[in-house]
Amino acid sequence: MKDAIKVGLIGLGTVGGGVARILIENEDSLGRRAGIPVKLAKINTLVLKNPLPYPLADGVLTSDIKDLVENPEIDIVVECIGGVGAALDFARRALGNGKHFVTSNKELIAKYGPELTEIAKSNGVNLYFEASVCGGIPIIHGLKNNLASDNIRKLFGILNGTTNYILDKMTREGAEFADALAEAQKLGYAEQNPTNDVDAFDAAYKLSILAGLAFHSSFKFDQIHFEGIRSISASDIAYAKSLGYAIKLIATGVDCGEKGVQLRVHPTMVPLEHPLANISGAFNAVFVEGDYIGQAMFYGPGAGMLPTASAVVGDIVDIAMTHELTHSHPSMLTNFGPREVLPMGLVESEYYLRLSVADKPGVLAKIASVCGEFGVSLKSVDQPEAEGGLAELILVTHPVLEKSMQEALAKMRGLDVVMKVESLIRVGLA
Ligand code: HSE
Repeated sequence: MKDAIKVGLIGLGTVGGGVARILIENEDSLGRRAGIPVKLAKINTLVLKNPLPYPLADGVLTSDIKDLVENPEIDIVVECIGGVGAALDFARRALGNGKHFVTSNKELIAKYGPELTEIAKSNGVNLYFEASVCGGIPIIHGLKNNLASDNIRKLFGILNGTTNYILDKMTREGAEFADALAEAQKLGYAEQNPTNDVDAFDAAYKLSILAGLAFHSSFKFDQIHFEGIRSISASDIAYAKSLGYAIKLIATGVDCGEKGVQLRVHPTMVPLEHPLANISGAFNAVFVEGDYIGQAMFYGPGAGMLPTASAVVGDIVDIAMTHELTHSHPSMLTNFGPREVLPMGLVESEYYLRLSVADKPGVLAKIASVCGEFGVSLKSVDQPEAEGGLAELILVTHPVLEKSMQEALAKMRGLDVVMKVESLIRVGLA
């Protein structure tokens, strides 16, 4: 019988600093909640902010990673450094040496989750990653444990707070993308190089993790179709509103049975009455539909020091509570086989299309004829603005295959009356 669970923490940046603070400030209470004392025994960090806002006992700080990943005293290694360089090496070594591994690193789990799960299994320990998706929202535990009883059919998520902040600001203030991004950078939501967020890598990593749990398989990150929000303009948002929609960066997972699973992240026009249309600021939300639960939404802070750190510490407490059960559980559900991902061309959706066209007789007829040629049926056509011989056309289609829409679009681009295809946005939640 152990007298304490000992934690080794790698990284003392934003999330790691929060983890240290929660473990130290709440040591007594966490021990009582877990049924066994939980001690922060070692910290390995390259960056040390002095003075730390909490006391550390002598010998806790170490510059040698072996004091964590090879130390027989350590039960749990917690990684808060991000990336897939050193973090991957530390994960392999810690799990290989029979330590539970807790991480907030979505890229690590999206790319190496199945491999790390196998190492954990062979060593009788577990991989935990609650904080890797949607910060403080307990969505991983929700899907893995609470909804293990269910068959999840659909999952729609606002998984990236930075892009939701930007789109929300554009919606509320009529701001353009570049100004809203600059504000997000000033407030510390977006990085100086914002590509990870605005080009949707972050949301795609998170979708691959959630989809693995929801649809009982493991999906490779490169199976996910993703597009960011750089092409969205204030006028698209205004037109969307007049049509009854909000534009959100939605991660979609839909179980299409034998045909495979739809996995895609892109700007989506969400009906204003849907709860996801009303997620404001940098918040995250995940909406699921299952056979038994029906519809449910998880909502909360998707990032930030303490929300993310609280999810990491929740995993630590979970391990401490169950430390006497030595078996390894299938955290990435690697004991289900692979599933096909539906090619994007075979996904069906309604589309919103904004075109800059010549303002003269016969233009609409030419565009409608191209739509007809590729089986794209139009639901509505609007010409809200015309100036200096140019007009904007807003088309909304009935549901059609992506492949047909893209073929029609390619042909429209070649028409002499079409100056520019300004935007193409999928409409509705599948
Ligand atoms: N940069 C992410 C976001 C948080 O904006 O939601 C960390 O995944």
